[in-house]
Amino acid sequence: MTQHFPSVRFALGALAVAGLLATGAVQAQAQEPVQPLPAVKTIEPAKIELGKKLFFDPRLSKSGFISCNSCHNLSMGGSDNLKTSIGDRWQKGPINSPTVLNSSLNLAQFWDGRAKDLQEQAGGPIANPGEMAFTHALAVDLLRSIPQYVAEFKKVFGHDKLSIEEVTSAIAAFEETLTTPNARFDQWLKGDKKAIDAQELRGYQLFKNAGCVACHNGPNLGGSSFQRMGVVEPYKTANPAEGRFAVTGKDADRFNFKVPTLRNVELTYPYFHDGAADTLAQAVDTMGRLQLGRTFSDAENADIVAFLKTLTGEQPQITLPILPPSSDKTKRPQPFE
Ligand code: HEC
Ligand code: HEC
Repeated sequence: MTQHFPSVRFALGALAVAGLLATGAVQAQAQEPVQPLPAVKTIEPAKIELGKKLFFDPRLSKSGFISCNSCHNLSMGGSDNLKTSIGDRWQKGPINSPTVLNSSLNLAQFWDGRAKDLQEQAGGPIANPGEMAFTHALAVDLLRSIPQYVAEFKKVFGHDKLSIEEVTSAIAAFEETLTTPNARFDQWLKGDKKAIDAQELRGYQLFKNAGCVACHNGPNLGGSSFQRMGVVEPYKTANPAEGRFAVTGKDADRFNFKVPTLRNVELTYPYFHDGAADTLAQAVDTMGRLQLGRTFSDAENADIVAFLKTLTGEQPQITLPILPPSSDKTKRPQPFE
């Protein structure tokens, strides 16, 4: 890395040495293509708590059995660790479920970016016949039939309309808290040179020098652009997903996917939109060959994998919410119909 220490030193020559060193550390960090995760804002605790209940509430599905957490299990890195998800009546899902951890940092939601933000996204699965198989109207009716929910929505939103927009807004507020700060790599970025070992550092240097950072950069090491899967060599898959093309209809966007975050990637196997890579070693090998035209040796591959594992951060500490009971009026679930 080229460092701008000399110019900093000339410009700030009059400053105390301690000040200079601090400036140097900030400069060095600013020059890395990856930045530490920003701190999470928790300004609306009551709304976040309501969103957490909704995230865990399986009654938002037709079967009464599937919640957001079924496919974005917060005990397992916010994913389901399945090739493709299982939806209502055990339907095979079309695509791998991305993690909800740090997803608020992504430029858009879904592999093809068809939802602009978390709130827009949250309405999708509830009404998707292959996922929760409910409708927005049924979800709202259900919540309105549960007195404790009615009271909680009123407390948060100041009136008792209880709309789907409020449901998705509360879920999104909860999801915004699902960040994973203080990964060992972040500690290293902030100046603790002992936070990662020699192999992990070699892996990071190779990750930078080989060109992975062209796409996996920023605080989320991804999530900031749509890129072709298979730049140098085509990616072979039986999965029919066409990526960004489905949203824009532009030929140039065919097979472009949102670059996934690499934060907590150790926890979110299997990899790629079709879930075809079972291990990080496989995913790194595929990326090297298909995106960069580069075949890594076993040792190089192991170095990169070791680096990727330093991206596992502190997982959100979730107290399992106790959900308000259904009332006599609440429509009963239909798991087998
Ligand atoms: C049946 C499994 C399933 C359920 C239930 C489910 N999801 Fe998902 N989720 C997925 C899959 C699969 C995708 C990727 C779909 C795509 O990209 O086309 C996804 C994508 C997402 C994303 C986008 C992440 C990103 O980086 O693009 C978010 C956020 C999300 N889901 C949140 C939720 C919330 C909130 C709920 C509950 C209201 C929910 N999900 C319910 C399977 C599920
Ligand atoms: C040209 C852009 C680009 C480059 C360069 C690139 N990637 Fe990727 N990466 C992607 C895209 C796009 C995906 C998602 C592809 C898909 O699922 O079909 C991805 C997926 C991944 C995944 C799987 C993540 C998950 O959750 O499924 C890993 C791991 C990964 N990349 C690591 C790397 C490494 C290591 C390098 C360097 C050797 C690299 N990438 C270089 C764009 C890129």
